[in-house]
Amino acid sequence: MWCIALAAWLSVVAANSRSPHIVLIVADDLGWDDVGFHGSNEVQTPNIDALAAAGLVLQHHHVAPVCTPSRASLMTGKYAIHTGMQHKVIYGMEPRGLPLSERILPQYLKDLGYSTHLVGKWHLGSYKKAYLPCQRGFDTHTGFITGKIDMYDHTNMETGTWGFDFRRDPEIISHDLFGKYATDIYTEEAVKLIKYHNRTQPLFLVVAHSAVHSGNPYEPLRAPEDVVAKFSHIQDRQRQKFAGMLWKLDESVGKVMEALQESGLLSDSIVLFTSDNGGPAAGFNRNAASNYPLRGVKNTLWEGGVRAAAALFSPLLQKPSRLAPQRLHISDWLPTLYGAAGGDTSILKGIDGFNSWEALSKDLKTERTSVVHNIDDIFGSAAITINQWKLLKGTTYNGTWDGWYETSKRKGEYQIDATLQSRAAKAIRSLGLMPDKDKVFKMRAAASINCSQSTTAPIACNPLVAPCLFNIDDDPCERVNMAEKEPEILQKMLIKLKEINATAVPPNNRNLDLRGDPKYWGRVFVNFGDFVSENPSIIDL
Ligand SMILES: *[C@@H]1O[C@H](CO)[C@@H](O)[C@H](O)[C@H]1NC(C)=O
Ligand SMILES: *[C@@H]1O[C@H](CO)[C@@H](O)[C@H](O)[C@H]1NC(C)=O
Ligand SMILES: *[C@@H]1O[C@H](CO)[C@@H](O)[C@H](O)[C@H]1NC(C)=O
Ligand SMILES: *[C@@H]1O[C@H](CO)[C@@H](O)[C@H](O)[C@H]1NC(C)=O
Repeated sequence: MWCIALAAWLSVVAANSRSPHIVLIVADDLGWDDVGFHGSNEVQTPNIDALAAAGLVLQHHHVAPVCTPSRASLMTGKYAIHTGMQHKVIYGMEPRGLPLSERILPQYLKDLGYSTHLVGKWHLGSYKKAYLPCQRGFDTHTGFITGKIDMYDHTNMETGTWGFDFRRDPEIISHDLFGKYATDIYTEEAVKLIKYHNRTQPLFLVVAHSAVHSGNPYEPLRAPEDVVAKFSHIQDRQRQKFAGMLWKLDESVGKVMEALQESGLLSDSIVLFTSDNGGPAAGFNRNAASNYPLRGVKNTLWEGGVRAAAALFSPLLQKPSRLAPQRLHISDWLPTLYGAAGGDTSILKGIDGFNSWEALSKDLKTERTSVVHNIDDIFGSAAITINQWKLLKGTTYNGTWDGWYETSKRKGEYQIDATLQSRAAKAIRSLGLMPDKDKVFKMRAAASINCSQSTTAPIACNPLVAPCLFNIDDDPCERVNMAEKEPEILQKMLIKLKEINATAVPPNNRNLDLRGDPKYWGRVFVNFGDFVSENPSIIDL
């Protein structure tokens, strides 16, 4: 649905015919080990694997540990500590959003003449209409505005309430789609947008999936039964359902790639696939993701929380089909995509991201030498990486999610033919860019992290007691705490953390405003701030 019909007309004026089409596919809560291209045999992601094999496996792609901060970084090019979004997520009854002073990715791309569309999740604020996607640079939005929904009934249970959350922006609450599997809705919408895209403009399409986030407590992981049945070899019932949800997500990636190819857009496209944060493993959030052998889960600052499964495909890459060693942070995509689109990145002031397009395309060094994973003074946790060193100070959940959670043991065999015959592989092959079986296997082996081969004895770390230090290049599984062996490096890192912390803005979380309870608004999550007085009846969580 068109948010503002006029916007489409105006933007044509600035159309830059040479800008590539940009498709950003964001998985929700997908773990490191939940993709075949990192070596998993248990779940199957043939389309995503094809995309990765023909493009770049983004082996060092860092994200924030949880959804809202991560998406805020993606959209603004800034660390969450610089937008006030560093603590937890936005709730439907919370009167805040990504600050309106921030200019975001679709707005920048509109300046270059792009047609801009969001399908799926927003989660950057819905208190007032001004915070919604269609007021922030997207021509259309079909999807939901809070943090999660049930895949079939499209409701969200959170903070003691329950409401419907599915819409075609700006105003149409889509009760008509009730009962339809959410991933299928996104896929159909994305395919339609691609198919009817007017080629006089470049396309910017974000497909922000609900999968594989858990839904509501009554049935957190849902997928069509016939799909779940494909994974009967997985003993753990939750993991089996998770695999079904993931299968549907992967199918969606294939259908989007197929549509791009059939519409003639693929040869001139950039397709980025990434998870927003690490996976909720072992029952965390009632979910069954896997980050193994990386440590920790979603909402922790261990690699399992902040190192995401990600891949980039584009026929415009000069050196494709390889593992990208470049260290990236999700904030890099704003300048990288804006630069790839032909924008002048020198106008992007005060951001933390680096334009890494040339470096990725030609396999060169990027400007990035450090990553701020997050600083959250409410949780009392902070982590940064500088070159090969990672510092961890404090942790979340009082350390109860600081372990390693093995689910799959990589049992079974990789379904290579499924990957080579997937929709994505066929689309890519039609451009002559699909690598052969050997290459897929080689890249997969190179991308698989296996820390059980390490001969170094583990040194325990308890970040609640003292800061921990890891050589993250040698020890991606964070087994060997170097804090005592390298006191000088530890001190330097602590000083650096202090300096970075001095640049942080306070978190902008607000108490819930009970007037936003869906029960007052026809059981729907709405932009209630537009309809109530500014003087809220604040309660504590
Ligand atoms: C595409 O946009 C151009 C420029 O606005 C317009 O002239 C043309 O009719 C459009 N094509 C279609 C098929 O809508
Ligand atoms: C946190 O964990 C420590 C042990 O590691 C325990 O002594 C303490 O009681 C825990 N605190 C809370 C609030 O659970
Ligand atoms: C990791 O390496 C160990 C020791 O070489 C080996 O036994 C194990 O099978 C490997 N695991 C995977 C998943 O490749
Ligand atoms: C960051 O600075 C704030 C305010 O000065 C302070 O309270 C907090 O402890 C600091 N956090 C870290 C991780 O240094």
